Amino acid sequence: MDNNFDKIISFTKRRGFVFQSSDIYGGIGGFYDFGPLGVELRNNIKKSWWNYMVFQRENIFGLDSAIIMNPNIWKASGHTETFSDPLSECKECHKRFRTDHLEKNVCPECGGELMESRDFNLMFKTFIGPVEDNTSLAYLRPETAQGIFVNYKNILNTQRTKIPFGIAQIGKAFRNEITPGNFIFRMREFEQMEMEYFVKPGEEEKAFEYWIDQRMNWYINFLGIKKENLRVRRQEKEELAHYAKGCVDIEYNFPIGWSEIEGIASRGNFDLFQHQKFSGEDLNYFDVETKEKYLPYVIEPSCGLDRTFLAVLCDAFTEIEGGRTTTTESNKEKEILLKLKSSIAPIKVAVLPLVKNKEEITKKAREVFNLLKDKFSCQYDETGAIGRRYRRQDEIGTPWAVTIDFDSLVNDDVTLRDRDTMSQQRIKIDNLISTINEN
Ligand code: GAP
Repeated sequence: MDNNFDKIISFTKRRGFVFQSSDIYGGIGGFYDFGPLGVELRNNIKKSWWNYMVFQRENIFGLDSAIIMNPNIWKASGHTETFSDPLSECKECHKRFRTDHLEKNVCPECGGELMESRDFNLMFKTFIGPVEDNTSLAYLRPETAQGIFVNYKNILNTQRTKIPFGIAQIGKAFRNEITPGNFIFRMREFEQMEMEYFVKPGEEEKAFEYWIDQRMNWYINFLGIKKENLRVRRQEKEELAHYAKGCVDIEYNFPIGWSEIEGIASRGNFDLFQHQKFSGEDLNYFDVETKEKYLPYVIEPSCGLDRTFLAVLCDAFTEIEGGRTTTTESNKEKEILLKLKSSIAPIKVAVLPLVKNKEEITKKAREVFNLLKDKFSCQYDETGAIGRRYRRQDEIGTPWAVTIDFDSLVNDDVTLRDRDTMSQQRIKIDNLISTINEN
């Protein structure tokens, strides 16, 4: 694995962003847990997506559908039949691999001969109720999208909306990947942020290009990912999923190479057509102005939260040889700076009393902390030398550090330090919130 990727992985564990799931039991392949800083960063990414996709638009509506749904949904959507990957098993060591990920037709572990490839369905099965047979079989959803399609009519009828409109959903999805890997890039339990945009047939090309543009704009201007580390790749015909008429991948330049973080698909009326057929429910849209009746076409921007989270971390992770804050040759060490965009940083402001053994100072620092914690996510830290505390906050991407010192007691002011420039300015406590908000 790439050296830089290894460093990022161990950093995320060391600082409490990501942990291997069930770690004390030896882990479990393809599942991860998110620690205190990971949760905050993910929540901030989700909030940013929701704000950009739902709150800023009058014709996009939110949804939170169930993870387990009527299994006929997966028959209609084609997942029961075709949501599979080719699987090869080694005749010697019996390990299993994705055939399409193998360079040669031999076992990559022991060099043994492989059995004939067969299709392996990726949906996790479960049973509803006390009897475990075919009548109680159900699936954990492999995408959030189908929950949206089966609620299309509910939203249309209850929200008094017209075409074009969209339905957005954030939630967990599950795929029994044959070879999960590359840390949280390919997991068996992950989270998606999907939006289905319903348009009049004939309008889909324009909407497709519009959403590609909008989604790139979000990554660059709202998450702060560097433009040069993102690209749009149009999928070839033979790569397209069974439902797609066209698809682009938004890719990020990970340390493991350019890889997909989001797919934007032009799905035609495939899903509504299928659900209409399998459920017997009329899903046509009636345009009261033109008196036309039709099944809308769909454009779907489908973003993976975990891959976006990983891209944000890789993009922000900066190592500074020799350090920024140490001065003498002897104590120069490598420093990590996490250059996260301020709006998504897990902690926005660190509150640091200069010393911890002067009660007047810690009391004042607590007052400042109480003032700020209603407005920003804050961390109070009084342990260790001030330089070390700054470095700890730089590592986790905290954009602001507020230091309370002896002068604060006299002047009611503090030092406000900027993470990236390390510049410090003296600010009256009364002006702290507005100054942080402005920057
Ligand atoms: N509804 C369309 C759909 O699910 P997809 O390309 O299969 O399309 C969309 O998935 C996004 O979900 C991907 O771009 C990726 O970010 C994320 N994703 C898919 N499988 C994943 C996995 N095993 N682990 C982590 N993220 C995954």
